[in-house]
Amino acid sequence: MALIMGLVPAGLEAQAVLECQRCHGELELLRQHTRTLADARRMLVLPEELAASAHGHMTCTDCHAGFGRFPHPAAARTTGCADCHEAAEQEWRRSAHAGVEGEEAREVGEVVTCTQCHGVHTVVDLERLAEGPELARLNERCTACHELQRLSPPDPHRAAEGVGCHSCHSAHEQLPPADPESRMAAHNQPQFCGACHQEAAAAWVNDVHGQALLATPPEDFDPRRGIGPPTCSTCHDAHPTAVAGERDFTVAAVERCAECHPHAAQTFFGTYHGKATALGSVIVATCADCHSAHQIFPADDPRSTVAEQNLVPTCAACHPYARPAFVLYDSHPEPFNRHRNPAIFYSFWFMNSLLIGTLTVFGLHTLFWWVRIKVDERRGIFHGPGHKHGPGQGQGQGQGQGRVRGEGDEHE
Ligand code: HEC
Ligand code: HEC
Ligand code: HEC
Ligand code: HEC
Ligand code: HEC
Ligand code: HEC
Ligand code: HEC
Ligand code: HEC
Ligand code: HEC
Ligand code: HEC
Ligand code: HEC
Repeated sequence: MALIMGLVPAGLEAQAVLECQRCHGELELLRQHTRTLADARRMLVLPEELAASAHGHMTCTDCHAGFGRFPHPAAARTTGCADCHEAAEQEWRRSAHAGVEGEEAREVGEVVTCTQCHGVHTVVDLERLAEGPELARLNERCTACHELQRLSPPDPHRAAEGVGCHSCHSAHEQLPPADPESRMAAHNQPQFCGACHQEAAAAWVNDVHGQALLATPPEDFDPRRGIGPPTCSTCHDAHPTAVAGERDFTVAAVERCAECHPHAAQTFFGTYHGKATALGSVIVATCADCHSAHQIFPADDPRSTVAEQNLVPTCAACHPYARPAFVLYDSHPEPFNRHRNPAIFYSFWFMNSLLIGTLTVFGLHTLFWWVRIKVDERRGIFHGPGHKHGPGQGQGQGQGQGRVRGEGDEHE
């Protein structure tokens, strides 16, 4: 054919591009040499695409050696991404995308290659990848395979400038969260979420949960199953991350605390705050309002927001007139615990005894009354409005009873 070319002279790069483009820039021409239109489209490589990419300073022949002739000789070679980016390749080898080590070898197709995230000739440099449409496009590539983890509203990271899937999961070392090497493993979240949320992470690491997490060997627990102390995503979730301060988050947070502290939660729901929360109030105190979110300590620790000496300011956040006497109020009352809450204990038993006593007396009264009616009926004495001849038929029960009974007596 007319287009068959000789070797492209080495060094004449611009010309080399031009020569390649004579065919690889012409869909119609490529179509004649390929089986399907899709194949032809794949072969179409526009120089402006390459020029705009991270490899814009390179030419076709930098990566494709020996393609100067057509038909392309069998010996023609393409330099793969890994050949020039060894470090990235090393990282990628350790990731779930290359097949996790020790697992059964993955089927091809389950291995996620460089170009499935980066594209081939449209590789974007890091600067452009950091935000805007290129970042959105990258996230789309992730969600094309991980639809369940799509960042959807109200996830605060979805709209956050510069945050993508890889901000949490790393560029090349994505691993299952249960793998201790994963960035999103329970132990590693404080560090990697903390990269952007320094304040929260710095506080949390010292508190009772942070300390407990650091003291627990990774393999001993799985916070997602409620075993062991919580990590960031135990309370905040991931995809979507819950936005603090919204009602849904408040309710979910109480539920989370309750999963691991059922007794404290149960007693909380016995208080004014708890009952109002259950009824949908958003202004009353929930667990974190009193205990804080990331600075939780046992009550006898002076750093605790609920330590005796700190209670006044803690309550005063919402009760400006809080005084030492006010904070004697029990936030976790136990009506069955005489030592902890004698006043509640005795009034609880007094009120309930009164209630149960009253119900018992009147219950028995009604029962005996009913027995009496049945006995009388057998004897032919009628009490109810069912009596055919009674003038009180269809009238109020109490009234009818009296009258019918009287009439029944007459019949006798
Ligand atoms: C005469 C037209 C023509 C020219 C010029 C041409 N190619 Fe091709 N090239 C094709 C066609 C047609 C195919 C697809 C069919 C095939 O693989 O033979 C192809 C395939 C390729 C492939 C894919 C090979 C594979 O196995 O998947 C690469 C890479 C390639 N060309 C690179 C180049 C480079 C680099 C140049 C310039 C140095 C170049 N081509 C010049 C027509 C051409
Ligand atoms: C930075 C390196 C690099 C440069 C520069 C480059 N390519 Fe490629 N190209 C590749 C890699 C890597 C592949 C193989 C992708 C694969 O196997 O999935 C490829 C694949 C191809 C293919 C085959 C497409 C397919 O899907 O099979 C063609 C055709 C091609 N390149 C043409 C060109 C042309 C024309 C140029 C110049 C305009 C060019 N390439 C510049 C790296 C490069
Ligand atoms: C022939 C060597 C070569 C090949 C093959 C190659 N690259 Fe590159 N790549 C480079 C060079 C050189 C740069 C620019 C220098 C730099 O920024 O590291 C670069 C830049 C990049 C960048 C941008 C880095 C930054 O800091 O902004 C990414 C991403 C990238 N390449 C990915 C790939 C992928 C994916 C492939 C396979 C499709 C690939 N490269 C193939 C040499 C290569
Ligand atoms: C799961 C998607 C994914 C895969 C697969 C992937 N990358 Fe990346 N790569 C990224 C993301 C995301 C970034 C940007 C990281 C950032 O902005 O910090 C990146 C950055 C890069 C960079 C520039 C920064 C650096 O780490 O050097 C290079 C080079 C690179 N990738 C090459 C490769 C190569 C080579 C492969 C295949 C062995 C590969 N990538 C596979 C997603 C991927
Ligand atoms: C072409 C499809 C594909 C793309 C694109 C892709 N992944 Fe994956 N990803 C997979 C497959 C397949 C696995 C292994 C599945 C498994 O073991 O559950 C995986 C595993 C993971 C895991 C480990 C989860 C686990 O439970 O094993 C994370 C995290 C992950 N990918 C994040 C990402 C991120 C972030 C991106 C984008 C930067 C991305 N993936 C792009 C297909 C893809
Ligand atoms: C704010 C940090 C963050 C962002 C952003 C993020 N993830 Fe995750 N991802 C996590 C955490 C934390 C886990 C661990 C699971 C958990 O605790 O729910 C996880 C788990 C996963 C898993 C493993 C399966 C699972 O649910 O356990 C995959 C796959 C995954 N993420 C993909 C993605 C993809 C794709 C994106 C982008 C659309 C993304 N992630 C964005 C934090 C994040
Ligand atoms: C790359 C930086 C980055 C990483 C990593 C990151 N975040 Fe964020 N996060 C942001 C940005 C930006 C926002 C939105 C602006 C804001 O509200 O601070 C945000 C918002 C949030 C919010 C809502 C804040 C509010 O006021 O309610 C929570 C909660 C949150 N992130 C938790 C996490 C957790 C948990 C992780 C780790 C699993 C994580 N983030 C990882 C950057 C990040
Ligand atoms: C025990 C549950 C719990 C754990 C563990 C936890 N948080 Fe929080 N976090 C909360 C609660 C509750 C709030 C809401 C506080 C409020 O509304 O005053 C919150 C608020 C936030 C906010 C919003 C801004 C702020 O500081 O008020 C960010 C960001 C945040 N957490 C990040 C993190 C990170 C990062 C981690 C892991 C190092 C983490 N959280 C661990 C419960 C938790
Ligand atoms: C995944 C389980 C888990 C979740 C969720 C959780 N905690 Fe804890 N919490 C623990 C563990 C485990 C300890 C004990 C640490 C120790 O004893 O060293 C603890 C300790 C405490 C303590 C110190 C007193 C004590 O009993 O040791 C308080 C107070 C506390 N948590 C409050 C909360 C609050 C408030 C929330 C919700 C914002 C919450 N916790 C969520 C597991 C959890
Ligand atoms: C109105 C404030 C307030 C609210 C709301 C509250 N607490 Fe408390 N909490 C306290 C005070 C004060 C103490 C210390 C005195 C005590 O033990 O009752 C305490 C004690 C605790 C303790 C035991 C600490 C120790 O060192 O023994 C745990 C665990 C606890 N709370 C968890 C919770 C959980 C979980 C919730 C939400 C379901 C919650 N709290 C709601 C004020 C509150
Ligand atoms: C997040 C805000 C908030 C915090 C913190 C808070 N409360 Fe409340 N509390 C409320 C609201 C709102 C009501 C209902 C309106 C009212 O009566 O003031 C209420 C009602 C009460 C009531 C019953 C009604 C009343 O006003 O007498 C008591 C008692 C009470 N709180 C005690 C406490 C104590 C003690 C603390 C500290 C350990 C505390 N509260 C912390 C918001 C809070």
